[in-house]
Formats: sequence, C-alpha cells, structure tokens
Amino acid sequence: MSAEPIIVRKGLEGIIADESSVSKVMPDINSLTYRGYKVQDLAEQCSFEEVAYLLLNGELPKKVEHDNFCKLEKSYRKLSKDLTSIIKLYPTHSHPMDSIRTSVSFIGQEDERIWDNSPATNMDKAIRLLAKIPVAIAADYRTRMGKDIIEPKMDLGFADNFFHMCFGEVPAPEIVKAFDVSLTLYAEHGFNASTFTTRVITSTTSDLYGAVTGGIAALKGPLHGGANEQVMHMMKEIDDPKKARDWMLTALKEKRKIMGFGHRVYRSGDSRVPTMKKYAQKLAELTNQTKWMEIYDALDKTMVEQKNIHPNLDFPAGPAYYMMGFDIDMFTPIFVMARITGWSAHIMEQTANNRIIRPLSEYKGPKERAVTNLASRG
Ligand code: COA
Repeated sequence: MSAEPIIVRKGLEGIIADESSVSKVMPDINSLTYRGYKVQDLAEQCSFEEVAYLLLNGELPKKVEHDNFCKLEKSYRKLSKDLTSIIKLYPTHSHPMDSIRTSVSFIGQEDERIWDNSPATNMDKAIRLLAKIPVAIAADYRTRMGKDIIEPKMDLGFADNFFHMCFGEVPAPEIVKAFDVSLTLYAEHGFNASTFTTRVITSTTSDLYGAVTGGIAALKGPLHGGANEQVMHMMKEIDDPKKARDWMLTALKEKRKIMGFGHRVYRSGDSRVPTMKKYAQKLAELTNQTKWMEIYDALDKTMVEQKNIHPNLDFPAGPAYYMMGFDIDMFTPIFVMARITGWSAHIMEQTANNRIIRPLSEYKGPKERAVTNLASRG
C-alpha cells in the first residue's frame, strides 16, 4: 500500500485553521463583512467607535451602549506617569512600531489582572488598549519630534482626539471622516498574519497583552501592515505622474515586489479599496495634492494591464495618511490603532473555544546519525 502523498501548504495557503464569526472575506464577490455587515456600509454610516463595539460585542451598539462604551474608552485614555517616562527613553532612531510594541507590553505589565482571561476582564483589557494605544503612539511621535506631549482630551471622539494629540488641532471634518473611514476599513480581516499570530499566542493560554504585542510585531512587516508606508516611499520616489508608468514597467522587469499590490485571499481586487480610494481622492482635492492620485492611477492601470494584480487597502491608505499630514512612519502604527479591535475580538473568540495551535512540518534535514565526541571531529 503506497503512503498518502504529503502536501506542504507553504504559507498555510488555503488552510482553514478554525471557525470564526468575527468577519467573512468573500474573494469571489470582492466582499468583506464584519459580523454580517458590509465593511463599506459600516465605513460610510458608522463611526469607528460603533465598529469597535460591533467587533468586540457582535452587535452594533444601542445609544446607551454606545455612550457607555465611549465613556469607558475615554476613562482609560490617560497613560501612567511611568509609561510616559519610558516613552521618553525610546531611542529616537527606532521605528514607531517598535515603540508601540514596547508600550503595549508595558501596559500589560501594569495590569494586575494580566493572567485573568475571563470574558469580562479580557473585554475590559481590550477597551483599555483601544484607549491607550493612540495616546502612546501620539506621545512617542511628539517626543521623537522634540515636542511636548499633548494630553488626550476627554470631550473629543476617538479620531478627533488622535489629531489633537499629534498636531495640537483637529482638522476639517472631511479629513477626520477620511481618517475614521480608514480605521474602520483596517479594523478586521479574518485570519491574516497578525491576527493569526494573536490567536496562536492566545491558544497557549497566555495573556491578551502578550498576544497583541506579538500581533504588532507581525503587522510591522512590509508584506503585511508595513506596506502602507512602503507605498508612500514608492510614490515619493516616483514623484511625477508622467514617470509612474515607466517606473512600474522597470520595476516589473526587475521582478520587484510592488508594495500595495496583491493579496493572498483577493485575487481580483480588495473589497476595501474603492471606499478608501474615494476618500483619498477627496483629500487630494481638499489639500491640493492631486499629484499622488495621478501617480496612483498610473501605477494601478499599468500593474493591472501588465500582471492583472490589483491594489490592496494599503495602496490608497498610504497617500491618504500622507495627505492628512502624518509622517510616513506613523502609517503602520495607525493601522495598529484600528486592528486592535479585530485582534481583541479574535483573542476572545479563541479563548472561548480554545485548542492549542500546533501544526506539523515535513522534515527535510539530515537523516538520523550518531553523535561523535568533540576530539574525534578534528
Ligand atoms: N508585486 C509584484 N508581483 C506580485 C505582487 C506584487 N505586489 N504580489 C504578487 N505578485 C506575483 C508574485 O511574484 C507571484 O508571481 P509568480 O507566480 O510569477 O512567482 C504571484 O503574483 C503570486 O503571488 P504570491 O507571492 O504567491 O502571493 P502571496 O499570496 O504569497 O503573497 C502578498 C501575498 C500580499 C504578500 C504579496 O502580494 C505581496 O508581497 N504584496 C506586496 C506587499 C503588500 O502590499 N502587502 C500588503 C498586503 S494587504
């Protein structure tokens, strides 16, 4: 009897690792739903706070639930004096993703309930992180710029408050809305690399803070969340819409990976792109920076024509954040501010029905051999 052929699914492609009720990615119809709601509808009609509540609780909030959720989030915004002092010690050359990874780890150490993985405590930890992550990112941003840290304002919404803490002012409502939309679009996306990381860590019955710390490390990579920064570096390198097509043709000839294009699950377009592109376009007109969207269109057209590979969410999000005034290395930390909701929902789902995640590997190393002693090895 011949043995079953061994199939190695590199990158776990096509593997269904568990069940989930957080979101559904439907590549055949270019659609993504959070808890059954289309992401485009949520982005247009709901605030990020409502979407955060939905992801964490499974339902959109009623008015009183929304108000209580926002009140609790605001009550957790302030950082401890210790964390603020530590942020001031971070090397200024380090990437802000490394800063927020360290801050989240420290926020975990400060919480005496760290080992308590009960649903109520994990929910509270999730809201605590949702509230503190933007404050820690903004404090690190100001410190690196040699500027005073701006305290969070408790009478501002989540998106407005982030602008306030970074720049000392809140921009026009259209800019805040574009930012809020980006947070909703970035909030959740099934078993992507960082979410899967959080589930693997959670499956050992470790703690939520540790799982999120691992998720941030995974998200930092340019093949994942780090792509939104690389997109803007690429656009700045091209700089002139007239040069975009030739730039792309050369890059493809040189077999370079073009950041912001392609996706493991979507092969004919990312469902989140049209909404984000619409808001990036609005920002371009509002801030008189249409050049970036002209470069966008030329790159998009050439890539689809040459390789039939479509942009992913990072492609419009990169220039959108740039036009909002953020430094490029802030783009992936902003992604963390959003994805903390999806990660937390998955951590709680994994905890509720857990089995340790432990796949196999196909061994390709040397055959079994005898150990020789050091002297005889020459
Ligand atoms: N630029 C150029 N070619 C690309 C590409 C890109 N961005 N994305 C995929 N391809 C090509 C691959 O080279 C490969 O071609 P080949 O079959 O001739 O070798 C083919 O398309 C299939 O891609 P593959 O690398 O197998 O896809 P994957 O599922 O392993 O990887 C990504 C998915 C997202 C990691 C990949 O598309 C990528 O690196 N994109 C750029 C980074 C990025 O934007 N990441 C954010 C994702 S949301």
